Amino acid sequence: GNARGFSTRLLDWFDHSGRHDLPWQHPRTPYRVWLSEIMLQQTQVRTAAPYFERFVAALPDLPALAEAELEQVLALWSGLGYYARARNLHAAARHCMALHDGELPRDIDALVALPGIGRSTAAAILAQAWGDRHAILDGNVKRVLARYHGVAGWPGAPAVERSLWAFAETHLPDTRLADYTQAQMDLGATLCTRTAPACVLCPLQAECIARIEGRTAELPTSKPG
Ligand code: ADE
Ligand code: SF4
Repeated sequence: GNARGFSTRLLDWFDHSGRHDLPWQHPRTPYRVWLSEIMLQQTQVRTAAPYFERFVAALPDLPALAEAELEQVLALWSGLGYYARARNLHAAARHCMALHDGELPRDIDALVALPGIGRSTAAAILAQAWGDRHAILDGNVKRVLARYHGVAGWPGAPAVERSLWAFAETHLPDTRLADYTQAQMDLGATLCTRTAPACVLCPLQAECIARIEGRTAELPTSKPG
């Protein structure tokens, strides 16, 4: 298939079937996008949403978070689990006050240098907060790309992961990076699910190798051992 088809079809699908009413989209500030991405690393949208609302009501911006006591941050996180995320969030806010004039840096390497932010999370923040052109590769996107391109091998293996990053880069559109980023997450969460993906509803079905070859149950390949 052609390289542009992937993003065009995904964006057209997103316009009618994507999620447009998530709390961190209105308003979509860098601080709110960052907080949402940290919550969504290990928590589903439905669970995270009320925690997000409570958190931003108490600590509405980065300076407020940096000035808060860790105890308050942990209390706001209470119930979400993976409390290292809350500790890292608080530490990262203090780093930003000290090193980045109290703002989240608009730079992939500076973001990755902050506690709790890996390459894909940094890319998701830059794309959604500023519309910058960065590829993401979280668990959902790995699954979609492994199926679409028929990439066998456990996605956690370095060689497989490198190949999936390369595909993610080739599909990047030139515009609408925030919507495109959300569209990939939405497709992985709602249609291209781990078990029984809804290929008949999928905007990528015409060129998806896993669907065409009947391999959606085998891809992505499970972790060996
Ligand atoms: N997982 C990580 N980021 C997400 C987002 N913006 N929407 C849905 N799921 C996500
Ligand atoms: Fe996933 Fe099916 Fe769409 Fe392929 S056609 S990307 S397997 S939902």
